[in-house]
Amino acid sequence: MALRTSPEVSGMGHSMKRKEDPRFIRGRGTYVDDVVLPGMLYLDIVRSPFAHARIKKIDTAKALAVPGVLAVITGKDLEKYNLHWMPTLMSDTQMVLPVEKVMYQAQEVAAVLATSRYSAADGAAAVEVEYEPLPVVVDPKKALEPGAPVLRTDKKDKKDNHIWHWEWGDRAATDRAIAEAAVTVKEDIYIPRIHVASIETCGCVAHFDKVEDKLTVWMTTQAPHAIRTVFALVAGHVGLEEHKIRIISPDIGGGFGGKVPVYPGYVIAVAASVLTGAPVKWIEDRMENLQADSFARDYHITAELAANKDGKLTALRIKTIADHGYTDAAANPSKFPAGLFHVCSGSYDLKAAHVEVDGAYTNKPPGGIAYRCSFRVTEAVHTIERMVDVMAHQLGIDAAEFRLKNFIKPEQFPYTSALGWEYDSGNYAGALHKAMEMIGYADLKREQAEKRKAGKLMGIGISSFTEIVGAGPSKHFDILGLKMFDSCEIRIHPTGKAIARFGTKSQGQGHETTYAQILAEELGIPAKDIKVEEGDTDTAPYGLGTYASRSTPVAGAAAAIASRKILDKARKIAAHLLEVAPDDLVWEVGKFSVKGAPNKAKTIQECAFAAYTNHPQGMEAGLEAVSYYDPPNLTYPFGSYICVVDIDTGTGEVKVRRFVAIDDCGNIINPMIVQGQIHGGLTMGLAPALYEEISYDEIGNVQGGSFIDYLVPTAVETPKWETGHTVTPSPHHPLGAKGVGESATVGAPAAIANAVVDALWHLGVRHIDIPITPPKVWKLLREHGVME
Ligand code: CDP
Repeated sequence: MALRTSPEVSGMGHSMKRKEDPRFIRGRGTYVDDVVLPGMLYLDIVRSPFAHARIKKIDTAKALAVPGVLAVITGKDLEKYNLHWMPTLMSDTQMVLPVEKVMYQAQEVAAVLATSRYSAADGAAAVEVEYEPLPVVVDPKKALEPGAPVLRTDKKDKKDNHIWHWEWGDRAATDRAIAEAAVTVKEDIYIPRIHVASIETCGCVAHFDKVEDKLTVWMTTQAPHAIRTVFALVAGHVGLEEHKIRIISPDIGGGFGGKVPVYPGYVIAVAASVLTGAPVKWIEDRMENLQADSFARDYHITAELAANKDGKLTALRIKTIADHGYTDAAANPSKFPAGLFHVCSGSYDLKAAHVEVDGAYTNKPPGGIAYRCSFRVTEAVHTIERMVDVMAHQLGIDAAEFRLKNFIKPEQFPYTSALGWEYDSGNYAGALHKAMEMIGYADLKREQAEKRKAGKLMGIGISSFTEIVGAGPSKHFDILGLKMFDSCEIRIHPTGKAIARFGTKSQGQGHETTYAQILAEELGIPAKDIKVEEGDTDTAPYGLGTYASRSTPVAGAAAAIASRKILDKARKIAAHLLEVAPDDLVWEVGKFSVKGAPNKAKTIQECAFAAYTNHPQGMEAGLEAVSYYDPPNLTYPFGSYICVVDIDTGTGEVKVRRFVAIDDCGNIINPMIVQGQIHGGLTMGLAPALYEEISYDEIGNVQGGSFIDYLVPTAVETPKWETGHTVTPSPHHPLGAKGVGESATVGAPAAIANAVVDALWHLGVRHIDIPITPPKVWKLLREHGVME
C-alpha cells in the first residue's frame, strides 16, 4: 500500500515508535497492583488440595487469631446474598466459593481479609478445612462413559457429565464422499491443555464508596464493559446497578484470552468491599494463576480426510471431545459452544465437511478460553494442517505441491467454505511461493535426501493456515446477548489536537499508537497529537473488548468511520470559511482546498478551531463523532510458514534450525508493530509445539502448576524468526485491514509438528501429539530401531 501521509503525520504504513513505550520502559505503567488506596485491605484465598471432595467443616478460629486478620469469608457467607454461584459466559454456573464440595485441585474454598498482604497469607494458611475425598474424573472420555460418577450434583436433573453436543456441516454428503473416496487418512489428535501464563497475573482493587454509593473496580480485564454489565446483572439485587459500577482496566501485562472470564477472586473482593466499605485488593500469585485460572485447548479430536486418486481433497469429517473442566466457562460467542472450530476446512477447497463436538465435565478448572486464538481456530488449524500433511505423505506427493494443488484459488474469493464461512479474500499460493523462495525449499529438499542417506534426521514442515478474526457481525455473534460490535468516539479539540476513546482494551498490542495512526491516516492530524484511551467504563463508549484479534477488524473500522463523520462536518465548516459549496472542495489528507484553486485551502486544524470559534449559523458547535461498528463479515488473514528441524538421534531433542513466516493481514497500519505481533506469536506457537502442557494425574493433581514444570520458552529456546508478508486487502473493511495478533500462534505449531513427523515418516511415524518433547521422540526412535 502506497503511503498517503508523511512521517510527521504517521498515518498507515509508518513504523511509528509505540507511544506507550516511554512509560513501560521506564517502569511507569500503572498495573492493577500499582493501585494503592488509603485504608486498603488485602484478600488471600484458601485453595483445595483435593480435586473432588465434600467439605465437612471449615474452622476459622486459628485464622481469625492471626494479627491483622479481620474476617474469613466462606461460601455460606456468600450464600446469604445468593452470591456463592455465578453465571459463566456460556450460561453455565460456576462456584464463587463452595458450600458443599470442591470440584478441582486449587479451587477457591475460603477467603481471608486482612490489613496486609502478609497477614492475609498467614491467615489463609491457618484456615482448617476438613474434606471427605470423592471419586475423581480426569479423563473426559471416561467422564462420558455410562456409570461414571456424576460431577455436577448441584444440577438437579443431571444424570451424566455430558455438557452439550454441537455439530455443523452436511453429514450425509460428507459420509458419502468419504465412503466413495479413493484415499482416506484418519488420525487421533490430542491438543493439550495449556495456559496463557501472561507476565502479569490476575487481580483487582475493588472500592465500594458508601457515601457516593458507587463501586469502582480496577481489574485485569480484556472486556471492561461486558464485565460491568455482567456484574450489574448478577449483583443488581444487592444494589449494584450498572450506573453505580465503574470498571477500570488499567495497563495490562498480557491477556491472551485469559483475562476475559470473571474469576471468583474478583467477586469475593467486590463482596468484601461492599460489606466493609473499605477498598480491597486481590492479586493472584504465579501458582494460583497457573493452577486455577481458565485454560485453553484440551480437545480430543478424531479426524478423517478424503481425496480422489489424483490427490484432490474431497471431504473432512471430525469428531471431538472437549474437556471443559467442572463448568463450561469458555468465552465463546453464545451461539457457538465450540467457538469457530468449524473453520477447520482451512485453506482448502473441499466439497463436503462435517464436524461434531461433545463437551464433557471433569474434575479440572474451567477450560475453553481463546488463548491468542479466535475461539478454537488454533485447534481447527492444527487439525487440518496435520491432516493435509498426512495425506500428502500418504500419497507420496510433496507437501508444498499438494497444498498448491488443493488451495482455494484467488479467483474463487469471496469463497463460501463447505462449513458455511464466507472467506473475504486470499492468495494462499502467493504466500506459500514467497515462503518457499525465502527459505530455499528445493535446496532443503535435496539436503534432506542426502542427510537421510547418511542416517541423519532432518524434517521440513509447512503450515498454510487461514485465520478468522473480527467478531461480529452481530447477527451471528453475541456473548450472553451482548452483540459483538465495537466502538470509537472522537473529540477534536479547538487547537486541532484530539482524544479518541474505544470499547476495546490493549494488553500490550500497541493500540495507543495504531489507533492514533488510523485517525492520522483519515484526518491528517499527526498521530502524536491524538490521545487514545480505553478501558474505563465511565468514559469509553460501549464495546465488547479485545480478544480474538478483533480490535483492528472492528474497533479499527469504527475509528475510520468516526473519522469520516468528522470529515463530513469539517468539510461543511471549510466550505463556510472559504465561502464555497462543500462539493467544490477537494480533500487531500490534512486539508480541504477549492477545486482548481489549490492555494485556497483550510487545514483540518483550522476547521477544528472554527468549529468552536466561527461555526456556521444553524450548525451545532464542536467537532466530534462516534461510531458503533457492526462488521458485515469477519476478516480472514492467512499465512504460510515453513519450518526446518534437526532431530538429535541420541537424545530425541528437536532443534528448530529455520522458521520462515509469511503473513498476510491485508493493509498494515504499523509494520513494526505487526512484526512484533508475529515474533511474539511465533514464540507462543513454539511453546505448545515443543514445551508447554498442563496435565493431571489419575486423582486430579495438576502437573505443570509452576514454572518448574510448565516450560515457557525463553530467548534461549527461541529460534531466529525470519518474517515477511504479502498484502491482500479485506474488501469489506474500511481500511482493507485484517487482524493479525494471533495468526502466528495459530499457524506455528502445525509447521513444527509437520516438520518433526516429516523427519520420521520414512521410519513409519504418522503422528505425534504436541508438545513434542525429547522423551516422546526418544521413545519413537527406540521403537523404530534408530537407537538401541
Ligand atoms: O485485538 P488485538 O489488538 O489483539 O489484535 P489485532 O487487531 O490483530 O491488532 C494487534 C496490533 O497490530 C494492533 O496494534 C493493531 O493495530 C496492529 N495491526 C496493524 O498494524 N495492522 C493490521 N493490519 C492489523 C493489526
